[in-house]
Amino acid sequence: MKEQSQEQKIIEIKKLKEEKNAIILAHYYQTGDIQDIADFVGDSLALSQKAAKNSADIILFAGVKFMAETAKILAPEKKVLLPDMLAGCSLADSCKAVDFKKFIIENPGRTVISYVNTTAEIKALSDIICTSSNAVQIVESLPPEEKIIFAPDRNLGNYVLNKTGRDMVIWNGTCHVHEEFSLEAIIRLKKENPDAKIIVHPECELPVRLVADFIGSTSSLLEYTKKDNGNCYIVATEAGIIHQMKRENPDKVYIPAPPIDSTCGCSECSFMKLITIEKILNCLKYEKPEIFVEKETLLRAQKPILRMMEISEKLGL
Ligand code: 13P
Ligand code: SF4
Repeated sequence: MKEQSQEQKIIEIKKLKEEKNAIILAHYYQTGDIQDIADFVGDSLALSQKAAKNSADIILFAGVKFMAETAKILAPEKKVLLPDMLAGCSLADSCKAVDFKKFIIENPGRTVISYVNTTAEIKALSDIICTSSNAVQIVESLPPEEKIIFAPDRNLGNYVLNKTGRDMVIWNGTCHVHEEFSLEAIIRLKKENPDAKIIVHPECELPVRLVADFIGSTSSLLEYTKKDNGNCYIVATEAGIIHQMKRENPDKVYIPAPPIDSTCGCSECSFMKLITIEKILNCLKYEKPEIFVEKETLLRAQKPILRMMEISEKLGL
């Protein structure tokens, strides 16, 4: 049988979406072709908010497993599909439930704030979830004397600690994309492009954060490039976001900050990039692979996510 062209695959995806009342939610780190066919593109917080409020029967998540799990926890009655179950996350993997349970016991009397980049089991052990868009505000929403455990990203944790000055014990996890940026290469690019602004995700290591003109979550970086009157940006986060930056402001220049070792010269999340148009088509057609979260874990994980959503809503985030 003749292979379908990319255009034919996209037409079939659109048809299947309508027939099955399905929506595609895509993270900013997906490839441009996937972002272009999605019903909604956003960062982790916006995607959770969208997953909780929509009228679809099926959510196809173009992202990684912890995001699809979060969607299932927020919308248990819906079928949630992930086109490739190997789309994991090095950061979520760095925090295993058995070790985290021990960590909580070793640091008693602390409120547990976990980043959304965790498994459902870790969420079930947490008091509040946060994303990079609301981490500072979630911590600040607690009384100043409250002691905190923050997991699993040590860079985001240290960034929040510096901003808030709160008593925080931080889990030692990192994201393989954000910890790998080369400070030397960023400084060289800045010398070659003196007008460029360095914009950085808080999951990056301290030396990279220290040279930043602006630090923010994926959606804040996008907002910054939209509103800022500059013309050129060195972007220290996953390169997929540049697709949206170009869509919003095609005349500006966006230079992906390179990692220490790379063949493409940009930083890509190997897990995010496992999702393809072809896999999305098959996933929608056969309604597989589907995300399941064990009932008790789901119910326990729901509470801290809903607490995050309530605080975010109150703050207009
Ligand atoms: P945000 O979507 O919160 O910016 O998080 C970045 C990230 O690493 C997602 O995997
Ligand atoms: Fe995980 Fe980092 Fe990939 Fe995000 S970019 S999914 S934190 S490995």
